[in-house]
Amino acid sequence: MTESTAPYGSGPTGPAAPVKRVRIHHLRAMKDRGERFAMLTSYDQLTAEIFDDAGIPVLLIGDSAANNVLGYETTLPVTVDELLPLVRAVSRAARRALVVADLPFGSYQSSPAQALATSVRFMKEGGAHAVKLEGGLPVVPQVAAVVEAGVPVMAHIGFTPQSEHGLGGYRVQGRGEAGDDLVRAALALEHAGAFAVVLEMVPADVAKRVTAELAVPTIGIGAGVDCDGQVLVWQDMAGLRRGPLPRFVKQYVDLRGALTEAAQSFRDDVAARTFPGEEHAYH
Ligand code: KIV
Repeated sequence: MTESTAPYGSGPTGPAAPVKRVRIHHLRAMKDRGERFAMLTSYDQLTAEIFDDAGIPVLLIGDSAANNVLGYETTLPVTVDELLPLVRAVSRAARRALVVADLPFGSYQSSPAQALATSVRFMKEGGAHAVKLEGGLPVVPQVAAVVEAGVPVMAHIGFTPQSEHGLGGYRVQGRGEAGDDLVRAALALEHAGAFAVVLEMVPADVAKRVTAELAVPTIGIGAGVDCDGQVLVWQDMAGLRRGPLPRFVKQYVDLRGALTEAAQSFRDDVAARTFPGEEHAYH
């Protein structure tokens, strides 16, 4: 019997040469050199492979998996147990990127001990290299506890989707005097040991201020051009999602259109008996 290509997929693949892993100090060095970096979400083996090969240095398994992969309306319902297999898939596939796992709502707010226990699960069971959590001053003790245990923490302030109901919906944060609060929160998170701070839906001038005040990198999403890095949810960036997009999204390709056309062509080929062709058959 001749061996053929593995059906359905082949597991993580990649170049044979050893690849140098991106570490948190590399991001800090990029900030110091004034080099901008990109972060994308990823929730599976193949996008992790593609983005890693494309030179994206940070991959985030966001709790946005809730409303981009798992069919929930918001990020609130997703659990640690639902995210863990996605984290595992990405960390197995990414050879170079720093893999960051998002702590979902309810898995860290109760106490520093809870935050540490959840982070340990993502590191041990998920193979993540760092965790991310949302919130400002109230989660500073959580950040300190997790960092003290040796787990790098990415903070996330501004609009924090897990607090959508408390914030009164998808609204820009940090306008007017609230800008000073945002700077204070960012400094406190850095002081607690955060290695980077995500700024979501923050006025560009406030993000610029935070970026100038912090030694660690800021990563913007709807926070203007002056952040040290930029992050997008990959399905937004690649045009997979249906309906209106937030102002901060740039769509780089129309994957939804391309996949729709491909699925329709497959459907039509099957109906017309033009697939499979002779070249797809075994004899
Ligand atoms: O969950 C997520 O995808 C995020 C990014 C948008 C920063 O938190």
